[in-house]
Amino acid sequence: MSRPFLTLAFESSCDDTSVALLQDQRKIVATALAGQTELHAAWGGVVPEVASREHQRVLIPLLREVLSRGGIDNPARQLSLLAVTAGPGLMGSLLVTVMAAKALSQAWELPLIGVNHLEGHLFANVVAHDDLVPPFLCLIVSGGHTEIVHVRAFGDYRLLGMTRDDAVGEAYDKVAKLLGLPYPGGPAVDDLARRGNPGAFSLPVPLRDSNAVEFSFSGLKTAVLHLLRRFEGETLPLEDICASFQEAALSALMTKVRLAVMATGVRSVALSGGVAANSALRESMESAKEWKSFIPPKSLCTDNAVMIAAAGYSNWKRGIRSDLFLSPDPSWSLASR
Ligand code: KG4
Ligand code: ZN
Repeated sequence: MSRPFLTLAFESSCDDTSVALLQDQRKIVATALAGQTELHAAWGGVVPEVASREHQRVLIPLLREVLSRGGIDNPARQLSLLAVTAGPGLMGSLLVTVMAAKALSQAWELPLIGVNHLEGHLFANVVAHDDLVPPFLCLIVSGGHTEIVHVRAFGDYRLLGMTRDDAVGEAYDKVAKLLGLPYPGGPAVDDLARRGNPGAFSLPVPLRDSNAVEFSFSGLKTAVLHLLRRFEGETLPLEDICASFQEAALSALMTKVRLAVMATGVRSVALSGGVAANSALRESMESAKEWKSFIPPKSLCTDNAVMIAAAGYSNWKRGIRSDLFLSPDPSWSLASR
């Protein structure tokens, strides 16, 4: 019997350290993740130097845990491939796992692939849906990115449009900060919005009337700031503010997905990235009539190494390899126009 193809993957592009072992394209064998939310909470955002030190501290214990849970006692013989996020992300954070993966590929004599983090997010959908095949569109929504990509084939990506300024996750985090909610703000705003009235306050839907597939979220954040001034000295109606903000933000996303579907004629749309964990966005996508939606489970939406392993494996099948000159690229873009 032939040995299973096992990819060991690492992800540390921002503030989550994750190691995963994947068999072939979508069988998750073992995974371990360490978050850093509490470490950064006091600053209201990720402190890069603190993040890299923490990645460094937890990486080897996480690696040992995954190897042990995956029954790997001889990595050089049992593993087939190493995959690691090589960008985009924070330079110091990326360096920790890129250097570790390069060292391990030498020590264990295993091939290595540097994976684009956004391609990883896209592959969370491939892990979750064996019926998802190109061509399809992917709405990538995270703390650093908001873009719609046309996946013509795996490895052949065309950027249909992106944000002019803030990413949608960044807008959630900034609005949460204005409201005094803990970092990262997305899940807290999502929670409060569920109990609020989305029509309570009228906030501008960014670029609603433009025919371009592009986003902008900094004006919406400023509109929330102006709204808060109305309540000086009063208790904030947190639920209604969150629901109204979310209504405008998600309406901008859905409008542009609709435009992209019309422009390309492609009627399969995948959702990816941390904001894909948002309950209202998931519901809107699921109920859309004009296209079929593919949405990963919440555990695969935020940063994780399973998606990096899946993208690495697909790259491997396409003949792509990295070598020891692999170096992190903090602004590596997935696709161009
Ligand atoms: O993909 P990710 O884990 O890291 C980046 O690559 O940026 O995304 C993190 C972002 C943060 O902005 C966080 O607030 C947002 O995803 N997020 C959410 C939710 N869960 C995470 N935003 C809205 N609703 C959520 N439930
Ligand atoms: Zn991410």
